[in-house]
Amino acid sequence: MNPQASLIPDFDLSSRNTLALRARSRFGIAIENAAQLPILFAEAARRALPVRVLGGGSNVVLAADFDGITALMATRGKAIIEQREDVTIIEAQAGETWHDLVCWSVEQGLGGLENLALIPGTAGAAPVQNIGAYGAELADLFESAMVYDRNSGGTTSFTRADCAFAYRHSVFKEDKDRYIVLSIRLALPRDWRPNLNFAGLAELADDPALTPQSVMERVIALRQSKLPDWRLHPNAGSFFQNPIVSAEMAAPLLAEFPAAPHFPQPDGRLKLSAGWLIEKSGLKGFRLGPVGISDRHALVVVNHGGGQQADIAALANHVKSTVRTRFGVQLHEEPVFL
Ligand code: EPU
Repeated sequence: MNPQASLIPDFDLSSRNTLALRARSRFGIAIENAAQLPILFAEAARRALPVRVLGGGSNVVLAADFDGITALMATRGKAIIEQREDVTIIEAQAGETWHDLVCWSVEQGLGGLENLALIPGTAGAAPVQNIGAYGAELADLFESAMVYDRNSGGTTSFTRADCAFAYRHSVFKEDKDRYIVLSIRLALPRDWRPNLNFAGLAELADDPALTPQSVMERVIALRQSKLPDWRLHPNAGSFFQNPIVSAEMAAPLLAEFPAAPHFPQPDGRLKLSAGWLIEKSGLKGFRLGPVGISDRHALVVVNHGGGQQADIAALANHVKSTVRTRFGVQLHEEPVFL
C-alpha cells in the first residue's frame, strides 16, 4: 500500500454515520486488508496525526471536524471454519455488515444469531459494545477475535474472557484507542433451541415448526415496529444504556410507579428502562434545534436534519439532567463520542 496515495483529503463522513451528523475528517482511508494498518500508523506518526477507526458508524457521535485520519474498516469475508461436536464455528472479517452475517448464518441452516437480526453496524464493531437484543447478547456466542494492538503493533487472539464483556461493554470500549478488531469467531450451537424469553417472541413457543429463519423474521418485524429506521430518521439505536441501580435508589421510583419496568440483576441491583424514564419525564418527541427524541421510541435520538455533535451533546445533557431531577437516576450514553 502507498499510504500517501490512499489517504483521501477533506473526507466527508456525513453518509458514514447513521445519525447523518455533518462531520469531516482531515483524511479518510478504507482498510481493505489488515496488513495496511502498520503502514498507516507509521505514516500517521510521520505526519503527527491521530488515527481513529470506524466500522458501520452506527454507534458513534462524530465530531464536526476531526484533525486526523479516519480509517474505515472495509475487510470482507465470512466462512464456516470448524465443526465441533456441539458447535459450528464461523468467522467474519471486521468490515462485514452484521445483519448480512446473521442472514447468511441462517441461510446455512445455523441458529444462534437470529435474535440479533437487523442490528446496524459491522461484525468488527459487534464485540466493542457487546451488541444485544431480544434476550441475546454477542458474548453468549463469542468464541474469539483477532485484534490489532496499537501499543505493540502486533496482532493477538482474544478469548471471551479477554474481552471482559458486560452489558453493552467490553475491553474494546474501555480502551477505545488501543485495540482494533480485525475478525471475530462465533460458536453456534448444533443443537439449536429458540431463545424466546422476551415479550413479543414468547407466543412463537406454540409453533412446532419453529426455525432460526422464522424467529429471525419475527425479530425483524418487532424491530421495524418499534425502532425508527435510520435511513429515514437518522439515529444511533438506543442512545442511553438501561441504568442499573441499587434497590435503595430505585425505591422512590417504584413506590410512585409500582408498574415501572425493572429487572433484578444477579448482584441484587435493578435494571431500569431508560426509555420509560425518558417518556415519563415528558421528553418523548422533544426537540432541541435540529435534533430530538424520537416520538416512536424514547430511547432513540434522531437527527431531523443538519445536526452536529454539539447539538447531540446539548440534547443528551438536557435529557440526563431532566431524568436526574425527576427520578434521581443518572443515565449514561451508549454511543461513543469520537
Ligand atoms: N418504553 C417506554 N417508552 C418508550 C420506549 C420504551 O416506556 O418510548 C418502556 C416500555 O415499558 C418497554 C420498555 O421500555 O416495555 C423496554 O423497551 P424495549 O423493549 O423497546 O427495549 P429497550 O430496553 O428500550 C433494549 C435495547 C435495544 C434492544 C431492545 C430489545 C438497550 C440500551 N437497548 O431496548 O437495543 O433492541 O432492548 O431487546 O439495552 C441498541 O442497543 O441500540 C438497541 C436498539
